[in-house]
Amino acid sequence: MGMTMERIVFSKPYRSRNELANIEAVLDSGHVHGDGPFAVSANRRLQAISGAARSFLTSSCTHALEMASLLLDLGPGHEVILPSFTFPSAALAVARCGATPVFVDIRLSSGNVDPSAIEAAITPHTRAISIMHYGGVGVDLDAIEAISAKHGLPIIEDNAHGLGGRWRGRRLGTAGALGAQSFHDTKNVHSGEGGALLVNDVNLMERAEVIRDGGTNRSRFLRGHVDKYTWIDIGSRYLMGELNAAVLDSQLAEFESIQSMRQAIWDTYSSSLADWAKNVGVELMSPPAHAEHPAHLFYVLMPSHDEQLGLLAHLRALGITGSFHYVPLDSSPAGLRYGRTPQECRVSEDFSRRLVRLPLWAGMPDDFVSRVVEGVGTYQCAERILA
Ligand SMILES: Cc1ncc(COP(=O)(O)O)c(C=O)c1O
Repeated sequence: MGMTMERIVFSKPYRSRNELANIEAVLDSGHVHGDGPFAVSANRRLQAISGAARSFLTSSCTHALEMASLLLDLGPGHEVILPSFTFPSAALAVARCGATPVFVDIRLSSGNVDPSAIEAAITPHTRAISIMHYGGVGVDLDAIEAISAKHGLPIIEDNAHGLGGRWRGRRLGTAGALGAQSFHDTKNVHSGEGGALLVNDVNLMERAEVIRDGGTNRSRFLRGHVDKYTWIDIGSRYLMGELNAAVLDSQLAEFESIQSMRQAIWDTYSSSLADWAKNVGVELMSPPAHAEHPAHLFYVLMPSHDEQLGLLAHLRALGITGSFHYVPLDSSPAGLRYGRTPQECRVSEDFSRRLVRLPLWAGMPDDFVSRVVEGVGTYQCAERILA
């Protein structure tokens, strides 16, 4: 009987050193709701890493994106331009306010939004541009900021993948008026579920605090600035609970080492698969030198959809879980219902149908990384062989 090899999962939430002790400290402290000492500490660490002027921990990135929509007063008749190839929450946060998500195409070289498609989609109804740094590789910020300035449109930056990343030296998440982070357990640092809103526009800071706190001025009351708190604005309970913050704080304390573990795996994939990719006609993820990325993911772009399915099946048979990624939003059921697509998003469709992501997580054993490299390297594209 052959030895059964341990299955290599696609993603595994990182276990940080102090998380159990932190959780116990929270339960013992009697402060288990939001904005306790661990939230304060985690938020400080987040500000140091991101460079954001202010940040607010939230229950998810989705909620941070919803807060952005409320802060920009989005409503019926307003449009927000965003890439077709992104996570549904970017569009959901717009549609939830009764505004219309407008889907535009991406670039094949990065999976990031195509700035010229943004400019072409601007109408008198446009209220904001929502961008996402795919895999933490910065979008063309120079081009998008020029469009934003020319048309007076704020940028919402979905930086769920990009904490710690830089575009030409500038930290991702701080270029837009508002940036959104995710601490979902698939992310580099996590709190199970969780997120944060980075507020870079000083005019939005005070209101962000109120919107996150159920539309009340409770934070001001807790600081002794008002003698009772009351309902003053729209909002919801978007705070992160202290148990999640306890985990997040311990994860952020290890940020540098988590990043270097991921970077090492990313570098191994990139260098070890280069010859295979060239031989079989596959493109490897290859960010430009000026885009420092946080090794959130590694993908290969197969020559066709059949080869995407082929590689995924090949890996599955070897006990390795690869994964595709976003299903384009412009043709999704809710995208068709709530959104608008001025021009066909062909690249988004193509990218989505050819992309394969490889397992990548901090703490992934070296022999797992080697098995992935060998497994991918033994895949021969059928179409190539026939050609
Ligand atoms: C680009 C992007 N934005 C937003 C989200 C949503 O994050 P959350 O689960 O924290 O709401 C995800 C989740 O994977 C994502 O990939």
